[in-house]
Amino acid sequence: MKALLLCGGEGTRLRPFTYTQPKVLLPLGHQPILFHILDTLADTPIREVAVIIGNNGQPIMDLLAKRNPWGFNFSFILQPEPLGLAHTVIIARETLGDDPFLMYLGDNILDEPLRPLINRFTAEKADALVLLRRVKNPRSFGVAVIDDTRVIRVEEKPDQPQSNLALVGIYLFTPAIHQAVRTLKPSRRGELEITDGIAQLITAGKTVHYHLLSGWWKDTGTVTDLLETNHYLLRKLPPTNEGQVKKSEVSGVLAVQKGSILKNCRVKGPVAIGTGCRITGAEIGPYLSVGDGVKITNCRLSRGLILPGAQISGVNLADSIVGERVQISSRQKNDEPASLLVGADAILKL
Ligand code: G1P
Repeated sequence: MKALLLCGGEGTRLRPFTYTQPKVLLPLGHQPILFHILDTLADTPIREVAVIIGNNGQPIMDLLAKRNPWGFNFSFILQPEPLGLAHTVIIARETLGDDPFLMYLGDNILDEPLRPLINRFTAEKADALVLLRRVKNPRSFGVAVIDDTRVIRVEEKPDQPQSNLALVGIYLFTPAIHQAVRTLKPSRRGELEITDGIAQLITAGKTVHYHLLSGWWKDTGTVTDLLETNHYLLRKLPPTNEGQVKKSEVSGVLAVQKGSILKNCRVKGPVAIGTGCRITGAEIGPYLSVGDGVKITNCRLSRGLILPGAQISGVNLADSIVGERVQISSRQKNDEPASLLVGADAILKL
């Protein structure tokens, strides 16, 4: 079995952060979204991963050329325009060959091993297996109608959903899908929808099985989703200290990577600190992720993401995302935390 991993999305709802890097490289917890997904895939028999990238995909290729602790064989396929999820299956046809494959949308994070699903799919010999999750807002997703064992109908973002079962962005397909996607016409949003490909399979009399997810799952489309996912991942983080923590008070889980120094800090975990950071006189956490090479001086920071290379001094922030290499400084004392979303390289004097 191969994997088709979709990392080509423009992430328009996550601007300004996706202006400077692909969405899957945004950090969550202690590592980029992409690495969380690859950790999940590593625990399956899959070794070949075809990665769909958009025009902003070069950093993904660079990163995976440098770091591949999972030992995957990566191939990269450019989708120059966002023509839809089913379109990626069409352009990956040759790479996927006649093997079954797992299609994984790069903004989905779930807390469930995939190996049992792959085993089930292989044993049952269905033409496709989809993951479903009950949601409160089915209009925002592909929606499925099921019977005891099969999916009998699917519809992409329906105005009047026939169920509250959302299609999770992880699908198992046999090569039967290649035939199905070839017949598709663009949807309302002008894309070839994978949901329509699945509908086509059903119309052609193929078997589509489902697995109902009960555990945690998130499609990290918006800033709120991103921060919520960060909270969830941080809650599961084991404590580590590969750096130095001096004259500081720590409660809860703190994970510090190599070369980082915390001094005179009060830490309320969970907090994750990347490599090579300098954090002095700060109150940090809970639910804070700090990227590599960040400098924080005399700040209060909770519930947020500080991206690599940022330098922050004298501010009180909560529910914030501070972009790469941003510089923020303030001379005023603020008891109430501000909530900021600041794109890369900005310089703010508050
Ligand atoms: C896509 C699919 C949708 C699915 C969702 C899961 O939606 O089209 O059927 O429910 O992913 O994350 P999109 O994120 O492209 O709006």
